[in-house]
Amino acid sequence: MMDIKSKNLLDRPRRLRQNMTLRKMVSENHFHLDEFIYPMFVIDGNKIKNEIPSMPGIYQWSIDMIVSEIDAIINMGISKILLFGVPENKDEQGSATWSDDGIIQKTVRKLKHEFPELYIISDVCFCGYTDHGHCGVLQDGDLHNDMTLSNVSKQVLSHVSAGVDMVAPSLMIDGMVGEIRSTLDGNGFSQIPIMSYSVKYASSFYGPFREAVDSSPKIGDRKTYQMDPANRREALKEVELDLMEGADIIMVKPALSYLDIIRDIKQICNVPIACYNVSGEYSMVKASANKGWLDHDEVMVEMLLSMKRAGADIIISYFAKDIAKILRDSHGIR
Ligand code: PBG
Repeated sequence: MMDIKSKNLLDRPRRLRQNMTLRKMVSENHFHLDEFIYPMFVIDGNKIKNEIPSMPGIYQWSIDMIVSEIDAIINMGISKILLFGVPENKDEQGSATWSDDGIIQKTVRKLKHEFPELYIISDVCFCGYTDHGHCGVLQDGDLHNDMTLSNVSKQVLSHVSAGVDMVAPSLMIDGMVGEIRSTLDGNGFSQIPIMSYSVKYASSFYGPFREAVDSSPKIGDRKTYQMDPANRREALKEVELDLMEGADIIMVKPALSYLDIIRDIKQICNVPIACYNVSGEYSMVKASANKGWLDHDEVMVEMLLSMKRAGADIIISYFAKDIAKILRDSHGIR
């Protein structure tokens, strides 16, 4: 054992921590706005800008109101959004998801017209559009896998026909990526990438989001389709299947409690890995900062750095605007 009084320490790692210049030079991870995707909620109606109570700073926007917000985020350097719709009417199958007049379709046409350079990714799911709140077609109280698959195809085709640049299926049903890939390829959309919510856990961190889109299941829960938080090996199986089916980007969700999963996947796959810094992770920081219990920016940066360290190439985060401000104030480097 080393004598703590000995001057012959093996090394002095503190040498490289002496000042900011040195620390910055040896920093292993930096943020760049290009790797952030900003999730946004659009709602049917006019003149609506509803703050989501559990997500301060995040709003439901009506189409007329979202335009100036998009203008603002583009000016901040944010180039990609992940779009969620809050429809006027729900039904058993969530048919508003494939309506030409659906909230996503109308929003995308408007935004593509106003901001051709904005990159729009659509969340592909049914939970906000079904009257029972589950992510597809229900049969005997459970999600019916294969009947849901054919509705997914209709939804995806409708989204890309309206102008969506990338689709992000989040339903966690078996075969969804393969189904979507063949639908896209068979209809002249072979250039549209799929970012799959490959490893999506049945998580209570989605609580605030479900308030934002009113998508909580009215009966039961999502445990028959989303993954058990206890499982690690199973994540690899989901990823292998999605890669075989043609996923271009693999996503892990939530992020913060699943950094080990991001790391595991990084080691086995050669496609970009996204993580979703979900609503509950955002709300925790906002709430405690609001009480003065935590430093907002420091905690946010530390959280997001942990995702980068774990191996995430892309971060989907409600903090994207906060990060944009920090990067601007620190001349692009953090
Ligand atoms: C839709 C979907 C959910 C989220 C993204 N897409 C909720 C869920 O599965 O219940 C959660 C996002 C967040 O919490 O920020 N299925």
